Amino acid sequence: MRATLRLLPLVLALCAGCEAPPPPPAPPPYANTLALKQVMEWVIDPAVDVIWDSVKTVITEKGTQEIAPRTDAEWDAIRNASATLIEAGNALMIEGRARDKKEWMAAAKRLSDSAALALKAAQAKNTEALFDEGGNIYKACAACHQHYAQHLAGPSVGGSNDAATPAKK
Ligand code: HEC
Repeated sequence: MRATLRLLPLVLALCAGCEAPPPPPAPPPYANTLALKQVMEWVIDPAVDVIWDSVKTVITEKGTQEIAPRTDAEWDAIRNASATLIEAGNALMIEGRARDKKEWMAAAKRLSDSAALALKAAQAKNTEALFDEGGNIYKACAACHQHYAQHLAGPSVGGSNDAATPAKK
């Protein structure tokens, strides 16, 4: 008993610097309201269509028509759609959506990065660059689908989507 009491101050002193580590921070309160399929169909697809439909060549019996953004409002809409895709890439990375911490993250980042370049092209009103980035966005979609959704032939399957591939210029 005596010995124990005498040891007590020593034990207290030793433990002054050894408090329990703080508990790990709670994960942010992500709202996984939308299923992945809904993110694809309701967030990503409508946004990317704005970009893919904005620069293309339409060939009909009557001739060839070059489509390109002309008004400020059209360029703004493309900028906004690009911004949506940048953030959609982030939204694909949240816990509960991300399928793994490696390839999935890289694919989602590729979407955000190519969308960021499309946004730059829209701000510069550079039709050529916008067309190129539309193609790179397509590759980002396809890369992820090849890995995680092999049943999809391209980024846009099913439904009425006419933009499964960006139009050739
Ligand atoms: C990080 C991975 C990833 C990226 C990037 C991605 N997708 Fe997807 N997408 C998926 C997965 C996985 C599915 C299958 C979802 C399911 O069936 O539950 C899917 C499904 C879809 C579907 C079909 C939904 C259905 O099942 O009917 C569409 C359309 C689609 N994606 C469009 C796109 C487009 C367009 C892009 C690029 C602008 C894109 N996706 C980028 C992972 C991705």
